[in-house]
Amino acid sequence: MAEETKILVLGPTGAIGRHIVWASVKAGHPTFTLVRKNAVAIPKPTLITAANPEMLSCFLQGDINDHASLVKAIKQVDVVICAAGRLLIEDQVKIIAAIKEAGNVKKFFPSEFGLDVDRHDALEPVREVFEEKAKIRRLVEEAGIPYTYLCCHAFTGYFMRNLSQLDTTVPPRDKVYIQGDGNVKGAYITEADVGTYTVKAAADSRTLNKAFHIRLPKNYLTFNEVVSLWEKKIGKTLERIYVPEEKVIEQIKG
Ligand SMILES: NC(=O)c1ccc[n+]([C@@H]2O[C@H](COP(=O)([O-])OP(=O)(O)OC[C@H]3O[C@@H](n4cnc5c(N)ncnc54)[C@H](OP(=O)(O)O)[C@@H]3O)[C@@H](O)[C@H]2O)c1
Repeated sequence: MAEETKILVLGPTGAIGRHIVWASVKAGHPTFTLVRKNAVAIPKPTLITAANPEMLSCFLQGDINDHASLVKAIKQVDVVICAAGRLLIEDQVKIIAAIKEAGNVKKFFPSEFGLDVDRHDALEPVREVFEEKAKIRRLVEEAGIPYTYLCCHAFTGYFMRNLSQLDTTVPPRDKVYIQGDGNVKGAYITEADVGTYTVKAAADSRTLNKAFHIRLPKNYLTFNEVVSLWEKKIGKTLERIYVPEEKVIEQIKG
């Protein structure tokens, strides 16, 4: 699969879907989207300036719950990327059925875009989401559908806009709460980069039937390092309040 790979994005108006759509358009792939009746446009991320909107070949009207619309859309493409949100994870059984019926798909990306759901020790309530995603993996494999599981770890727009502080939408300027000792490394990635690397993975045969991890070296940081970067940016030292692991677990179980 290469440049001319035809890509269908399901959930194209969503937080991550829109980045995948425009990254695909920018990379020159014929790009198809399945939109529900009320969707009028795919929001274009501000960083994408070079993309030619004419490459957005097709807005197909449909719904994950409408089998015929799914099959019709899927038959036109090589790769299906599902960026449906958390509430639709289990509904991907309908996409699996449609891909099986269509019979032409060379690669399916189920909606993952997080940690590797076969390798984690998450607690509830996140554990339940990971288990739903893992169940979809098993169904994809049983159905014999070629796949890539995209593991991109933490979105910066999701976790960094408030430095993961509770009950606030902006990053702290006085004191910052840090879980544990703040020395465990985590991988962060902008939503735009998730779009770019997902599209690269879509057109690359090396990702076939694999869990594909994105971990950019400069974005692989401990939380203490993240806080230091923020302090440097605002020119101020914050009070660091460390919340011991047992306390964090207590709060999660709440
Ligand atoms: N790693 C991280 O930090 C992180 C953070 C957040 C999410 N995620 C993961 O990223 C993935 C995508 O989540 P998201 O938050 O980007 O999703 P989202 O913003 O909730 O987007 C959902 C998309 O699904 C579409 N949709 C909803 N119902 C549909 C239906 N019946 N038929 C067809 N389309 C339908 C929506 O279209 P409408 O516009 O029509 O509603 C929208 O485009 C999930 O797997 C989530 O767990 C990861």
